[in-house]
Amino acid sequence: MPQSTHIESTDTHATPNLFTPLRLGAIELPNRIVMAPMTRSRAGDGNCPTALTAEYYAQRASAGLIITEATQVCDSAQGYPHTPGIHTDAQTLAWRSVAEAVHDAGGRIVAQLWHVGRISHPCFQPNGAAPVAPSAIAAAGTLFTGAGMEPFPLPRALETDEIPGLVRHFADAAKRAVFDAGLDGIEIHAANGYLIDQFLRDRTNRRTDRYGGSVENRCRFLLEILEATAHAVGADRIGVRLSPTGVFNDMGDSDPLPHFLSVAQALNPFSLAYLHVIEGRPGHHMAPPEGAPHVAEALRAAFKGPFILNGGYGRADADAALASGQADAVSFGEAFISNPDLPQRFRTAAPLAEPDRATYYGGAAKGYTDYPALETVAA
Ligand SMILES: Cc1cc2nc3c(=O)[nH]c(=O)nc-3n(C[C@H](O)[C@H](O)[C@H](O)COP(=O)(O)O)c2cc1C
Repeated sequence: MPQSTHIESTDTHATPNLFTPLRLGAIELPNRIVMAPMTRSRAGDGNCPTALTAEYYAQRASAGLIITEATQVCDSAQGYPHTPGIHTDAQTLAWRSVAEAVHDAGGRIVAQLWHVGRISHPCFQPNGAAPVAPSAIAAAGTLFTGAGMEPFPLPRALETDEIPGLVRHFADAAKRAVFDAGLDGIEIHAANGYLIDQFLRDRTNRRTDRYGGSVENRCRFLLEILEATAHAVGADRIGVRLSPTGVFNDMGDSDPLPHFLSVAQALNPFSLAYLHVIEGRPGHHMAPPEGAPHVAEALRAAFKGPFILNGGYGRADADAALASGQADAVSFGEAFISNPDLPQRFRTAAPLAEPDRATYYGGAAKGYTDYPALETVAA
C-alpha cells in the first residue's frame, strides 16, 4: 500500500542547496544531485547489463541518487538496439551485480522502467510484429534499427483487454528490480513520448474506450501501473517521470497545463517517493517550444511530495531552484556522462569535462567508463 512520504533534511530551517541531504520516500540521499536516466545502448547478450555497466554506475555512486537508463519491462517494450531489460532471470541477475557495485561504492540506484510503445520497429518486436500503441498513429521521423535509419512504422492499437497484461509487466519488473536485483526503487518512465506518455497526451491517444478521451481516462494506464507497482514494492520506492511539454518523438498535447495538473493531482494519493519533471531551462533543447506554457511551477505546487527538476541545469541555477523552492532536487544528464564525480566538481567549483556525443550510444568503454574523476585528472 502507498506509505506516507515526507521531505527531511538535517536542518529544515536552512536554505537547501545541492549538498543538503534529502529523503525521497524510503530512500535517503546524502545530496540533491540526481543522475538523470540515460540510455547508453551497451547491453550485452540477452539485453543484460554487463560488468562495464556496473563499473559505469559505480563510478557515479557519489550522486545523491542514480536513475538507470530506461529498462524494458517485457519483450515488446524495446525500441533501440542494446537497451537492457529486467524481465528475464539473466537480466535480473545482471542488474543485481550493478546494484551491488553501486551499493559497495556507497551509492543508491533506482531502475527506470519503460515500454517504448510506437517508438519501435518490427525488428525489435517478438515475431517481427508491429509495435503497440494506444492508437494506430505512426510517429513522424525515423529510428535507428541497427541496419540504418528507417521511418517509424504504423503501430497496432492495443485492445482494451491487453492493457492489464502490460500493467502486470510493470509490476513484475518492479518486483524483480527491488526484491531480486536489490535496487533501491523504480522510476516509471511516463515521459519523452514512450508508451505511458502516448496514453497521457491527446496527439497520440485517440481511444474511445476507458483509456482514452477524458483526462481521467488518459491517466488510467499510468494510475493502474502505479497501483500495481505500489502494491508490489511500496509507493515509497516509486518515482514518476513526466515531460508535459516535450516534443521529442513527435509528441504534443492540445492543452498541457490543465491536463498535467490533473495528472500531478491524481498522483498525490499514492504518496510516491518523488515526481521528476523535465522542463528545459530557456535555450535548452527540452525547453517548452515557442508558445507552449511552462508547467513545472504549477506541477510543483500541485504535487504534494518531493519534486525533481531536469533540463539544462548547472550548479548555480540548480542551487537557485532549490533555494527558491522550485524543486527539492535537480537531475543532471549529460554532465554525468563526462563527469563521474560531478558532486565533487560542484563542491570544489572545478571545471566540468565536456561529453563526446559521438560515443553516447553503443560501443564499449570509450565514452562510457573512461572519463576520469578529478583526482585521476590531477595525478
Ligand atoms: C544519451 C542520453 C540518453 C538519454 N536517455 C534517457 C532515458 O533512457 N530515459 C529518460 O527518461 N531520459 C533520457 N534522456 C534524457 C535525460 O534524462 C535528460 O532529461 C536530458 O539529458 C536533459 O538533462 P541535462 O540537460 O541535464 O542533460 C537521455 C539523454 C541523453 C543525453
